[in-house]
Amino acid sequence: MPRKTAKTHIIVVGNEKGGSGKSTSAMHITVSLLDRDYRVAVIDLDTRQKSLARYIENRQTYADHHNLKLKIPEVHVPKPAQRDSIAAMQHQDEASFRSLLDEVKTRSDFILIDCPGSNSHLSGLAHAVADTLITPVNDSFVDIDLLAQVNADNYQVAQLSLYSEMVWEARKTRAMKDRGVIDWVVMRNRTSALDARNKRRVHEVLTGLQKRVGFRYIPGFGERVIYRELFPRGLTLVDFGTNSGEKMTLSHVAARQEIRHLMDELHLPGWTGPSGIAAE
Ligand SMILES: Nc1ncnc2c1ncn2[C@@H]1O[C@H](COP(=O)(O)OP(=O)(O)O)[C@@H](O)[C@H]1O
Ligand SMILES: [Mg+2]
Repeated sequence: MPRKTAKTHIIVVGNEKGGSGKSTSAMHITVSLLDRDYRVAVIDLDTRQKSLARYIENRQTYADHHNLKLKIPEVHVPKPAQRDSIAAMQHQDEASFRSLLDEVKTRSDFILIDCPGSNSHLSGLAHAVADTLITPVNDSFVDIDLLAQVNADNYQVAQLSLYSEMVWEARKTRAMKDRGVIDWVVMRNRTSALDARNKRRVHEVLTGLQKRVGFRYIPGFGERVIYRELFPRGLTLVDFGTNSGEKMTLSHVAARQEIRHLMDELHLPGWTGPSGIAAE
């Protein structure tokens, strides 16, 4: 199949907190891209939980059992190296990761890398090869603390968090290596329709943090039970109403709209939004 992007675009989904929606978002982005006939490879760096790899395995099993033509990406879960010292292990992990990337790039328009919810050597390396970095955060000041410590009185940035500093380092590494730029996108996840006051305050703080911390902030997904129910079947909301055999309800329609909006806001190469105008 011919290339659909000028060069392979790497999307990294990361933050150092578990449960913020990295794997769920990664899966929905992957299937959105597959749905547009892009060639997508997935690298799951959460080598303990493997949620994204398991999600995709479930998709294959569900498709096989129900005789459905669901698109499936190629999936890699790097095996942690076994060496005598941490330095030797990290060296080996890095070499394997880089050769995997080089190999997968030759046949992919997009590579989607899902990171674990904790700081790891491989996760740091992945951040430094990202073209787009997506950080899902829940609607809570605990999650905002992951980006920066915020002054309690005026919501100004008191100090950057360790994670934001790590992203700065990744940006420097990336700029020196190939003058590449990382587009860092913070997306909200699990926003509640009920708590309007908290929602507004989080919105204000994230808007204020954008420039100082160096990300752009976009709306993501609302809190919806459906996101929790799809995993065992390996389905996403992108599959509904097509060939998954699933029926759409009004809530599904609203959720699918959120995903389309997210995809448009990511400004990925070649991606055309509802207006039909490409982001590039
Ligand atoms: N928008 C959402 N609404 C409801 N549940 C969600 C939403 N996003 C994620 N979840 C659920 O939250 C949990 C953590 O999500 P997950 O994507 O595994 O996070 P992470 O990869 O960051 O650890 C899962 O049970 C998932 O189904
Ligand atoms: Mg995960």
